[in-house]
Amino acid sequence: MKRRALAILSICTALSSINLGVLAEDDPKSIECRQEFIDDFKHRIMDTAAEDAMLLRILVEASTAKRGVEVGTYRAFGAINMGIGFERTGGHLYTVEINNSMVLKARESLKHLALDKSVTVVEGDALKVLPKMEGEYDFVFIDAVKRDYMRYFKDLEPKLSTGAVIASDNTIGSAGQMKDFLTYVNTDPHYDSVTIRATMKKNDGITITYRISDGKKGVDKDLIAARDKVIRAASAKTKYPTAVDSILLRILAEAAQAKKGIEIGIGNGIAAINMGIAFERTGGTLQSVDGDSELASAARSNIKAAKLEKTVTVTGGDTLKVLANLDGKYDFVHINGDKNNYLPCFKAIEDKLKAGAIIVADNSLVDTDDIKGFLAYVKQPALYETVHLRPENKALKDGVLVIYKVR
Ligand SMILES: C[S@@+](CC[C@H](N)C(=O)[O-])C[C@H]1O[C@@H](n2cnc3c(N)ncnc32)[C@H](O)[C@@H]1O
Repeated sequence: MKRRALAILSICTALSSINLGVLAEDDPKSIECRQEFIDDFKHRIMDTAAEDAMLLRILVEASTAKRGVEVGTYRAFGAINMGIGFERTGGHLYTVEINNSMVLKARESLKHLALDKSVTVVEGDALKVLPKMEGEYDFVFIDAVKRDYMRYFKDLEPKLSTGAVIASDNTIGSAGQMKDFLTYVNTDPHYDSVTIRATMKKNDGITITYRISDGKKGVDKDLIAARDKVIRAASAKTKYPTAVDSILLRILAEAAQAKKGIEIGIGNGIAAINMGIAFERTGGTLQSVDGDSELASAARSNIKAAKLEKTVTVTGGDTLKVLANLDGKYDFVHINGDKNNYLPCFKAIEDKLKAGAIIVADNSLVDTDDIKGFLAYVKQPALYETVHLRPENKALKDGVLVIYKVR
């Protein structure tokens, strides 16, 4: 560990040893120490990248995960970030590491950052430890031997709750070593999966998988096929392929168990259909607003063809006026459409957002001049945690900004 990181750890330890009569989680110094430790962390090739770790933290928080497992701790960079999430949800992360020196380093860092109450490092071979772990788990991060991903997953699968989120690292760079695993999570109807890139420092990505059901209940294959057909037909008519973003939106909405969603800019309705599938599962509703009445009407018929009209409503008209008149609190937002409107739209709904809300801003990576003000506004770490996500296909340059409302 480098000198600066050690110095930060000592300051944190000194601060935590002073009894100020405040809870650790309310102590801003403790938060600062953790953030400084994360910012100054000198990454080695095996450490999870900062952007990937932020994605993991947001996934833990947004899904209000209570019992997580990490396979492969290494120097605990991922565990520290997920640990902050689990501390907020009141949950616990068990992280399994085979290498004793890594176990000791990880425990030391977690203790110094006062995260040892939220994270337990379990020493051992995951292939032996996982089958013996008891209880149910709602969050998994797989990041050890690439060819063993399917074995880790199969050991954990009987212990996964419905609604569990499974994040698997290096699924682009090492895809060839985990074909069985990727085929399974991408094709089994009991899971929704999407592969994205958070960091651009590694030519790699993370697959996010959502467990739709435990497999005991049947799935309506005809309905799935009918909806796929509508999505394919709508996609064929657009030059802007949004399929990856749309599945990501669906997974985020279902992982967060979102109940009241708003979409600003319906476009071709593909995203609305995907989110609609999630809201149908959570028992929630989505309202999509678009200023273009032709788009709104085309999207309405796609939504009807997808049998989602009870879950998704489409409102035409002046977006800002519609937003100003919204009632109630929202926990999921998709911002799309006119980039000049991102900031005014965001401000129009900001006081209607629940703590823990997820906001996904589309087209946030290319030609960002128009949304500079919006990006600066949401990048306030005390209020919002953010991560840019890009599609697996590098040829698709644009991506989304995922924003988590911390409080
Ligand atoms: C890529 S690193 C993990 C990085 C870590 N998840 C992070 O967030 O920085 C992989 C780790 O998996 C550990 N590992 C490899 N095989 C294992 C096994 N069978 N059981 C447990 N840990 C294992 C390695 O020792 C190594 O520390």
